[in-house]
Amino acid sequence: MNLPSERTFVVNDRLGDRTTGGGPERSNMATIASGQDTIERLRADRPAFHAGGGARWDSLPGTLEEIRRSVRPGDITLETGAGASTVVFAAAGAVHTAISPDAGEHERIRAYCRRAGVDDARLRFLAGHSEDVLPSLLGRERTLDFALIDGAHAFPFPAVDWCYISRALRIGGRLLIDDITIPTVAPVFRHMLVEPNWRLDGVLDERAAVLTLIAEPAPGDWPAQRSNDRFPDFGYAPRFRRLELAARHRVVSLARHLAERAPALRRAYHRARRAPGG
Ligand SMILES: C[S@@+](CC[C@H](N)C(=O)[O-])C[C@H]1O[C@@H](n2cnc3c(N)ncnc32)[C@H](O)[C@@H]1O
Repeated sequence: MNLPSERTFVVNDRLGDRTTGGGPERSNMATIASGQDTIERLRADRPAFHAGGGARWDSLPGTLEEIRRSVRPGDITLETGAGASTVVFAAAGAVHTAISPDAGEHERIRAYCRRAGVDDARLRFLAGHSEDVLPSLLGRERTLDFALIDGAHAFPFPAVDWCYISRALRIGGRLLIDDITIPTVAPVFRHMLVEPNWRLDGVLDERAAVLTLIAEPAPGDWPAQRSNDRFPDFGYAPRFRRLELAARHRVVSLARHLAERAPALRRAYHRARRAPGG
């Protein structure tokens, strides 16, 4: 994996041409703001990081507070998207990577960190679309302590982010996913809700969820996933056709089930006949 560890972090590593500004020379800042101060300051300053500096698409206060509460100095963290959340990761002392396609955002966030007295030495920006950056950045080694998914929200990008991030999250690591009320994000959240290797720790601001990865995913193909318990989903069909297809599926399943059970039933019958008094 090409994520930095606390000891080996350098800004211009072999993904260097996707990085912007800043660097270890900033590590001895005179004033290092605490995470709590930083959230209060963000609230007061309302910096506009997005859309060329003309918009604020920030994660909401409860979500920022969760990052502050959960992330410890030296934690290896990553987010898709960037903004106020990036400032809070940096203030928490994380070895943090933020991925977004807009290098201007990165400059504004870094400049704000410096104005607000937030140490940005362990903050690295990768300018690119997460769907392009993540496949070569993250492997299957579980090294992330905490991650935030809040980049592209159009289908299928939340699921693409989740695919690469969830397999690089350490067991016991936490995943924050913003905007679970957006229909393209919701299936990712629902999947984690029903799978036993995830624990829901809370829903924040009525729109973000924080979960802990408590175990490896269960082995097996799609039928082993609880998300597929509702198979077959005939939702594509008009209502009456849907009822008809569902009824037919139940009959076929029952017949198959009885056929599978028949040898056992036959053996039980013969055993009963051979038994004394049978
Ligand atoms: C809702 S904002 C993130 C807000 C941020 N969490 C905060 O607290 O300010 C969405 C972000 O996703 C970025 N983005 C858009 N498309 C992306 C993509 N394909 N990959 C990664 N980031 C993307 C945008 O540039 C923006 O930074």
